[in-house]
Amino acid sequence: MKDILEELESRRADARLGGGEARIEAQHGRGKLTARERVELLLDEGSFEEFDMFMAHRCTDFGMEKNRPYGDGVVTGWGTINGRQVYVFSQDFTVLGGSVSATHAQKICKIMDMAVENGAPVIGINDSGGARIQEGVDSLAGYGEVFQRNIEASGVVPQISVIMGPCAGGAVYSPAMTDFIFMVKDSSYMFVTGPDVVKTVTNEQVTAEELGGAVTHTRKSSVADAAFENDVEALAEVRRLVDFLPLNNREKPPKRPFFDEPGRVETSLDTLIPDNPNMPYDMKELIHKIADEADFYEIQAEFAKNMITGFIRLEGQTVGVVANQPMVLAGCLDIDSSRKAARFVRFCDCFEIPILTLVDVPGFLPGTGQEYGGVIKHGAKLLYAYGEATVPKVTVITRKAYGGAYVVMASKHLRADFNYAWPTSEIAVMGAKGATEIIYRSDLGDAEKIAAHTKSYEDRFANPFIAAERGFIDEVIQPRSTRMRVSRAFASLRNKTKKMPWKKHDNIPL
Ligand code: HXC
Repeated sequence: MKDILEELESRRADARLGGGEARIEAQHGRGKLTARERVELLLDEGSFEEFDMFMAHRCTDFGMEKNRPYGDGVVTGWGTINGRQVYVFSQDFTVLGGSVSATHAQKICKIMDMAVENGAPVIGINDSGGARIQEGVDSLAGYGEVFQRNIEASGVVPQISVIMGPCAGGAVYSPAMTDFIFMVKDSSYMFVTGPDVVKTVTNEQVTAEELGGAVTHTRKSSVADAAFENDVEALAEVRRLVDFLPLNNREKPPKRPFFDEPGRVETSLDTLIPDNPNMPYDMKELIHKIADEADFYEIQAEFAKNMITGFIRLEGQTVGVVANQPMVLAGCLDIDSSRKAARFVRFCDCFEIPILTLVDVPGFLPGTGQEYGGVIKHGAKLLYAYGEATVPKVTVITRKAYGGAYVVMASKHLRADFNYAWPTSEIAVMGAKGATEIIYRSDLGDAEKIAAHTKSYEDRFANPFIAAERGFIDEVIQPRSTRMRVSRAFASLRNKTKKMPWKKHDNIPL
């Protein structure tokens, strides 16, 4: 018996060593942790339960039968993050470059199936040379099986991808279908075709980092949601994100203990809006002052900064926040901000996370760039996402809510439950100056007359009361009491149920 136990331990030690000391050293030399070190950091200490440690590939081509390492380049299993269950796979670059064989894919598929059956998130740590070249179509089939599971799990359990090394070719499409992608600066990249192919086909010269590094994907392409300095920081942030999310779509968002007074009054908010309506202010100040303990987890902070998206807690319960940012492009809606917010709203809706919308929007950004880029379809995504979302929706207009953008930003007409406005709100078809120029086009008169017309338009529409008269605004509130009003609104909506007509699935404009 002793021998048998020793044999098991020796096999385990072998498996844990992955590709061996030299390759582990090389991995560390690049500033990267090993697959197992990453799992240890991601999960609560001692909580990891591994599956399939001894699985090995079955390929016999190209001399592969002589190289059958345990684990086949991926560590899989489950564990907990702050006591809540998650499933995880972590590709091991030290073993055959973390390349994906049929067996490697089979291991990933097993934990994805278990995650869906048991209602827990899947976290994938990607560090791989892609399809195992020696296995040919078997490897592609393996990827296909993972892709299909990504699709089936979408909207059922949260899926998070952490890119911590190469992720190229068709391999990028698995992370692309997950809910959140985190990358590490200078050591991870994602692209469909690498710099060499790009050079051959388009004659462009570009480095891997420029083409598909963390900065590129968080600022330019918006493929990734956040970029971090190193593996340790990225994994700590995944833990923080998981704390905000429900484990599956049948659960309410998690409720954590909170140490902040729901009725906290913030008198400083009474002066947040500048006297000059064209002056910007920082919408993040309002978000921090509404949130429990001023804790805001921002998503896509570096992309389309005219729109802010992220998670806060109110009375300990997760709330998704979507807010116009007057500091950037005056908070206009455009292609990028509409896409960013629409995807976020849809995430919240599939996972029963209530949505708080903070509105200060002068309209859609004009220009050929926007129209040629399809702002009509992209803007419609956000409109559609809000209209189909059945989770509790609370909206606060702080200043401008003009034109179509007023309707899009979770207005009463898109079935928001509570629509509040600060007394500084201006709810109108457009700004007073533009309106005057159109209404009085044939008799604009001199500067004095224009000013008088503008003033009369402002008096009529540059306030929340016309909308309040019609019930489109439920209440005009004091800025200082926003946290209290919003918290109470969400508390009253905890048992909200709303059914949409049956359909196979919708046809959101893509
Ligand atoms: C088999 C692979 C491999 C792969 C790397 N290795 N990628 N083995 N299949 N795809 C092996 C290497 O042979 C090497 O083994 C070890 O992993 C480490 O690789 P290195 O090249 O030494 O590392 P590095 O210099 O860091 O370069 C990493 C790399 C490079 C840039 C990823 O390995 C590379 O270009 N690999 C091929 C990438 C590729 O073309 N993949 C297929 C893409 S298409 P030894 O024993 O020598 O240490 C694809 C399609 C997916 O993925 C489609 C889904 C539908």
